[in-house]
Amino acid sequence: MSDWHTPGGQLDPLKVRAAYPILSTTPGGRPLHYLDSAATAQRPKAVVDAVSNFLLTANANPHRGAYTLGGDATAAYEGARARTAAFLGVPAEELVMLGSATEALNLVARSWGRANLSRGDVVLVTEAEHHANLIPWQQVTREVDADLEFIPVDDVTGEILWDRLEGLLKLRPKIVAVGHVSNVLGSAAPLAQIAPQIHAAGGLLAVDGCQAVANMPVNIPDTGADFYAFSAHKMGALFSGGGLWARAHLLNEMNPIETGGDMIREVRLRDATFAEGTQKFEAGTPDASGTVALAAACDFIDDLGREQIHAHEVRMLERVLRELPEALPDARILGPRDAKDRIGLVSFSSDLVHAHDLATILDRRGVAIRAGHHCAMPLHEQLELSATARVSVAPYTTDEDLDALFDGLRDARKIFAR
Ligand code: ALA
Repeated sequence: MSDWHTPGGQLDPLKVRAAYPILSTTPGGRPLHYLDSAATAQRPKAVVDAVSNFLLTANANPHRGAYTLGGDATAAYEGARARTAAFLGVPAEELVMLGSATEALNLVARSWGRANLSRGDVVLVTEAEHHANLIPWQQVTREVDADLEFIPVDDVTGEILWDRLEGLLKLRPKIVAVGHVSNVLGSAAPLAQIAPQIHAAGGLLAVDGCQAVANMPVNIPDTGADFYAFSAHKMGALFSGGGLWARAHLLNEMNPIETGGDMIREVRLRDATFAEGTQKFEAGTPDASGTVALAAACDFIDDLGREQIHAHEVRMLERVLRELPEALPDARILGPRDAKDRIGLVSFSSDLVHAHDLATILDRRGVAIRAGHHCAMPLHEQLELSATARVSVAPYTTDEDLDALFDGLRDARKIFAR
């Protein structure tokens, strides 16, 4: 075990915190209790150093320079792709590096979707999807006159009713697009169970993995997915960066949706042929620094240990689920009741205190949480909520962060119960 663990092998968040300089800062003069890692994770210094080292020693345009430094930049970029692919258990030749998970999901909908969907075909998503895994499907189904259907959620807890899938598969959806982990409910989709059902019904499975990859071990082949999108900044890398893994035959069949430099084989004045594989989807100068950061983030996460991160976060969430009802008795908690069934977060509402007021009051104690619809407006509408408050944890979350959270919740209760 490295320096990040207790002698018993558990993650020690106090040691982990030392790797994140921002956690020692005092925004607004208050110690920072960052409980919004589901929106964006904090960056360990190791990631910033890796980017800085790349930019200061190997910076050139990848895939272009015939000179040594150009080769160094290409090696750094392609090495970072290979490292990220290994982290996710997939071949580097099947991992497209993109600007974000949103870009990745749009690529699936606009490239695969436009080529494979037509009038009357069905696309199935859940009512809990993040807008990034919903709107691209709304757009493409509207364009080709296909049908968009929904796996419903429970009206009270918001939990996705996976037992409805079997019936919906009778519609023979061409693709089922789901989040691996809901960014509002914190629940994980039973991918290994539903993938064979979807395939048996003749469909493909596209997965938005944004909330999964940093918080639990993810080996993409075990999920049964055909497409898997993820975001770099949720893993402690840069805001730019994300990726799409797809089965090789799907990548080969798909057309690029962006064209330009670096994605071509031959260009004539009136037409062009495209590069093979991942390069076909990476038009323009690749995001080499973002990809280098992503590889460094994978190294750092593996150094902490993905099982250990998950176990630590479950311990933190157990405490949130246990103490939240004491601090704010009318809290309506969405998603699973057992922390072991959750990944990384808890969302809740209160009739006494609006989520936005709660976030403002918590900020007075340096506690940063997210309040709003979390880019999942249809789910909130289904639950008749305009907004929820969301607490999300990370390997650097400590009991002191949660103490500050509960103190802040008690403050809010006192203010609004007057
Ligand atoms: N998708 C991010 C979130 O859930 C921004 O907060």
